[in-house]
Amino acid sequence: TNNDSRVIRAELLSFDADPGEGDKPAEGSMRHYADGALWLENGRIKAIDDYATMAPRLPEGIETVDHRGKLVMPGFIDSHVHYVQLEIMASYGRQLLDWLNEYTFPEECSFAQRERADVISNAFLDEMLRVGTTTAQVFCSSHPTSVEAFFSACCERDLRMLAGKVLMDRNAPEALCDDTYGGIRDTELLISDWHGTARLGYSLTPRFAPTSTREQLDATGGLLRNDESLWLQTHLSENPGELDWVAELFPESRDYLEVYEQSGLVGPRSTFAHGIHLDQDMRTRLADRGANLAFCPSSNMFLGSGLFDRLAARDVGLNITYASDVGGGTDLSGLATLKAAYQVGQLRGQPLTAWQGLYGLTLGNAKALSLNGKIGRFAPGMEADFVVIDPDGSPLLARRHARCTTLGERLFALMMLGDDRSILETWTSGCCQHRR
Ligand code: GUN
Ligand code: ZN
Repeated sequence: TNNDSRVIRAELLSFDADPGEGDKPAEGSMRHYADGALWLENGRIKAIDDYATMAPRLPEGIETVDHRGKLVMPGFIDSHVHYVQLEIMASYGRQLLDWLNEYTFPEECSFAQRERADVISNAFLDEMLRVGTTTAQVFCSSHPTSVEAFFSACCERDLRMLAGKVLMDRNAPEALCDDTYGGIRDTELLISDWHGTARLGYSLTPRFAPTSTREQLDATGGLLRNDESLWLQTHLSENPGELDWVAELFPESRDYLEVYEQSGLVGPRSTFAHGIHLDQDMRTRLADRGANLAFCPSSNMFLGSGLFDRLAARDVGLNITYASDVGGGTDLSGLATLKAAYQVGQLRGQPLTAWQGLYGLTLGNAKALSLNGKIGRFAPGMEADFVVIDPDGSPLLARRHARCTTLGERLFALMMLGDDRSILETWTSGCCQHRR
């Protein structure tokens, strides 16, 4: 039950705005309490302040969880991940299209079975909580049962999650392909059963242009037009072989993005994973619609897709989110995603500050997904999803930590060296759901 009130005493860090690209966070973009108090009530944040300031206002006898020496931040958000690919992470040596055919599609066939979908949903959520991720936008398989299993498992843990059934009606094994409008009807049923239930939201999920007919993409656009509260997730311009294939399949479109535009799929709640091979005109069109690109650095390096141009997106005001893209990605951890993003940035002359990275994992991702009214920062009324970070999570981390003198140094070392050992506890709706 989360019907009670308690206080977390710890070092607290939360962003209120984009900290910018500078070595120091922009004025007013961040709140930091060296000895802070986070007051939780009924699964939400009631107040946040210095402990010494809050202590006299607290009710007599309120439970205080003493996490002094730990760093508490809003729960991490993963804007693009495939739960059904958990067990094919690190399958050797292919680029996108071969990897899909050899590993991914055969694996996704097994999610026709409800028991398998239940087991992997729970294993996936266990792993997410172990790495401090409390919200994600998730691809299921094309089987409605894979979505029911996932949403049920999320409900049991009171998690805020977005997910959807993959839509595919061509160029995939028959066992995974929808009847064009049958897939749409299945989607409508899932929306009516799950969208807005508990903390769940439905994300329309056409896999990518090559595996849907124009008719199926158009029908998906119809669903999005009819209900502005739905999300949409797909893939865009990840790999050169994919680009050639899209040009062949959609000769009526002048570029890959136009395939999606023509079907009405590009809007403020649309997430396009990857977007490696784009020109500035495509980035501007995405920005004008308020869509976001999911930067998936560990996946882009694993599948040899290319180096995401973060600052080119930023230049035109295009929202970027951070994502693991497991099973193309090699790590579920948001900290590992930031480490990979830093490395990609270095190869492009665009290093990522810890301020920008940790803002991205929390409020940045929440804003781009239109969830910032509920999660992503610490403020009264926000849902109490947070992570308790142990800066001394391993002997080496403790050594490195002992040498840091500033908050900036500590956060950067955490971003580059941190992993599941750095996550002491993960809380959702004011309850501890994972303890290391
Ligand atoms: N493009 C289409 N499907 C997929 C997928 O499952 N993973 C990745 N990384 N790219 C895709
Ligand atoms: Zn993906």
